[in-house]
Amino acid sequence: MKKLSIVDIANHLNVSKTTISFILNGRAQEKRIGKDLVERVQKFVDEVGYKPNSLAKSLRTGKSNIIGLMVEDISNPFFASIARLIEDRAYKNGYKIIYCSTDNDTQKTRELISMFRDRHVDGYIIAPPEGIEDDISSLIKDGMPVVLFDRHLPKVNTDFVEIDNLFSTYNATMHLVQQGYKNIAYITFASNQTQMQARLQGYKNALDENGLKPFIQEIVFSQDEELIMAPLSAFLKKHKNLDAVFFGTNHVGTCGLKVINSLGLTVPNDLALVSFDDYDVFKLFSPPVSAIAQPIEAIADSVITVLLNKLNTSSQHISSQSIILKTDFNIRGSSKKAEKAVAK
Ligand code: RIB
Repeated sequence: MKKLSIVDIANHLNVSKTTISFILNGRAQEKRIGKDLVERVQKFVDEVGYKPNSLAKSLRTGKSNIIGLMVEDISNPFFASIARLIEDRAYKNGYKIIYCSTDNDTQKTRELISMFRDRHVDGYIIAPPEGIEDDISSLIKDGMPVVLFDRHLPKVNTDFVEIDNLFSTYNATMHLVQQGYKNIAYITFASNQTQMQARLQGYKNALDENGLKPFIQEIVFSQDEELIMAPLSAFLKKHKNLDAVFFGTNHVGTCGLKVINSLGLTVPNDLALVSFDDYDVFKLFSPPVSAIAQPIEAIADSVITVLLNKLNTSSQHISSQSIILKTDFNIRGSSKKAEKAVAK
């Protein structure tokens, strides 16, 4: 059966297309359309099972009430928990979310932005990979509200929400130094993304201040655990002098724990541990792993609040804002020097 349009309904009921449109868009009262006519139209629409064409509506009204959310990997607990909180807040404000994963792949991200443009999303929330500056700048030039999070693009002037990455790793590395560890390694993904560079710098600054030698391993970004664990294992086998390791993300940290177990190393006596991102796996490890906890709720709340403000403010001349949030450093048994037995 041919899908009915608003014109078909108007012709069938001998009512103007405009009146039908007002009634179906909930504007009958505003337009002082009589209750009897509203009921007659609604009864017919229910009988024929008419479904408004959301794409046609968005073309007509210029609003789709959809937000495009692009994260690195929607199955990653960090991005998944933030995405869920954003979805709840957006829904309460009349918006639906379309998620997708960039896999840190520039070309895939370009294609996803194009898909969102075709769907006429009203706004974008993006954790951008490298190399996507021109595409983001083009969205902004076209008047699209864009908020970046987790990392930003220094060459693009737009709103973003990040955490104080540099201080977080500086502070955690200083903790290891103060515990007396001397050969402290930092294992992370190779990335020029702003958050990853800031974390690496914080580690370097702390060691530099204390005259300690850095031991750094940058692994090619992968979601395949084997491709993370193999180089990580080789690095630990090569540097037997290490007394502490700092993992730069949750993914590297969980792979690191598996490697440490497979090498039969004890924590903290053979190797003290700290990881970025705090998750149950780190709390359940024995001993529990010291970790930097990101403010998941505050990140999600800041991102959606900034975007909703941009969506609800017609002026395009709102100055861009960068919101930098604090993290918590949860010190646990994996990084504390065992208390030296005091001679009786
Ligand atoms: O995999 C998630 C990790 O990478 C988090 O540290 C987040 O900040 C992202 O950069």
